[in-house]
Amino acid sequence: MLAHVVLMLSNLLFTVSSDPEMSMTVPQIIDRWGYPFESHEVITEDGYILSIFRITHGLNSSDSVRTCPPIIMDPSLLCDSSEFIMNPPESSPAMILADAGFDVFLMNHRGTTYSRKHRDFSTSDSRYWKFTIDEYAKYDNTAVIDYVLNLTSDTSLYWLGHSQGTTLGFMMLSERLDYNKKIRAMFQIAPPGTAHFARGLVRIILLIYHITKPLTDLYQLTMGSHEVGISNRAIPQMITSFFCATPYIDQICRGAMHFLLGPQSMSFNLSRWPVYVSHLPSSTSSWNMLHWFQIATHEKLEHFSGKHSGNSDLPLDTAYDLSRVLAPVYIFCSSSDWLVTPRDIEEDLLPLLKRGVVKGVFRVPGYNHLDFVLATDNAEKVFSRIIDIVEKQETDIRKL
Ligand SMILES: *[C@@H]1O[C@H](CO)[C@@H](O)[C@H](O)[C@H]1NC(C)=O
Ligand SMILES: *[C@@H]1O[C@H](CO)[C@@H](O)[C@H](O)[C@H]1NC(C)=O
Ligand SMILES: *[C@@H]1O[C@H](CO)[C@@H](O)[C@H](O)[C@H]1NC(C)=O
Repeated sequence: MLAHVVLMLSNLLFTVSSDPEMSMTVPQIIDRWGYPFESHEVITEDGYILSIFRITHGLNSSDSVRTCPPIIMDPSLLCDSSEFIMNPPESSPAMILADAGFDVFLMNHRGTTYSRKHRDFSTSDSRYWKFTIDEYAKYDNTAVIDYVLNLTSDTSLYWLGHSQGTTLGFMMLSERLDYNKKIRAMFQIAPPGTAHFARGLVRIILLIYHITKPLTDLYQLTMGSHEVGISNRAIPQMITSFFCATPYIDQICRGAMHFLLGPQSMSFNLSRWPVYVSHLPSSTSSWNMLHWFQIATHEKLEHFSGKHSGNSDLPLDTAYDLSRVLAPVYIFCSSSDWLVTPRDIEEDLLPLLKRGVVKGVFRVPGYNHLDFVLATDNAEKVFSRIIDIVEKQETDIRKL
């Protein structure tokens, strides 16, 4: 109701952008650009039913020509599969990789827009929301990998994570050692060590969390876990239409995004924010947010210290042992990224990984945290490198 009034008022005051993609779902957007789309349901060991999306091939090839093995793309915190298809095909990571010959699978973790079913609980039941990245890594990732490998009759696949998605890949491989042989290589884009060295707005939020820790502990204890997300998109659509898609005024948008994410590259399409906020942020659980605060303030990638659901046997508080990650790792990062800073990667991630596991670290000048997936030149700066690495690795494998 309120949203309708706001939308009406805003329509009177100025034009709200009206890209068709603002009201489309991820499947509709993929279809709009002409890519072959499939949706699959995967049931996790703990009863969550996930929808994963598949783009079987690019525009210029057919099902019968499969040159590359599957790749699973795992999005960042408060995001879902939409972050990989938000731009026109030439700068949407999932479509770039499909056109390069990959069989692309897009992850939608439990609780996000497209994965809201459970064997026993509905999303209005607080028991549904009793999860954090511990469960994403242990249950969602393993279930999806096994499902994809069974579906495509492959024995291994590629992994591409962005931000939280990278952490989930590392956490999974450090606890489920048998999955190391199922991953041909991991492309880790803007991988947080612990986010301890985040700058800007997130730095301030972490400080507030630190000061009010007894209060958040009490909140966690009494309130259990619940959904964190945006239920109504009209207000963010309106705000970004005005501040990001209006000439001159868009400098305010640029400044605000700078404070949150880091300086935006010149190839970031500011006027597309209304499309982005029509899909993002997606939802997660309050416990997951608290888990990230815990990791950032303790400066350790550790298990959630709160109580997990009854059927979970996850250890509390102990750190993940990243030295058990054995799959080859390629890292993409940038000094303009204020959420995952170079110091975070150098101090809190790289020293934990086994020597020799990291095969390459690529620095992308001028990219902030979202530029990697949303900048209009990300094909050239990030994904063409990934395609080259895979082509070389696949040729080497065939030669063996
Ligand atoms: C598909 O092929 C056409 C004609 O050869 C070419 O113009 C176009 O760029 C190709 N598209 C992609 C995504 O590779
Ligand atoms: C593998 O896929 C087949 C169908 O393609 C299905 O019948 C079977 O249950 C699947 N196995 C697992 C372990 O998912
Ligand atoms: C930038 O975003 C606008 C608004 O959504 C869109 O019309 C335009 O095609 C985008 N430009 C590029 C280069 O992607």
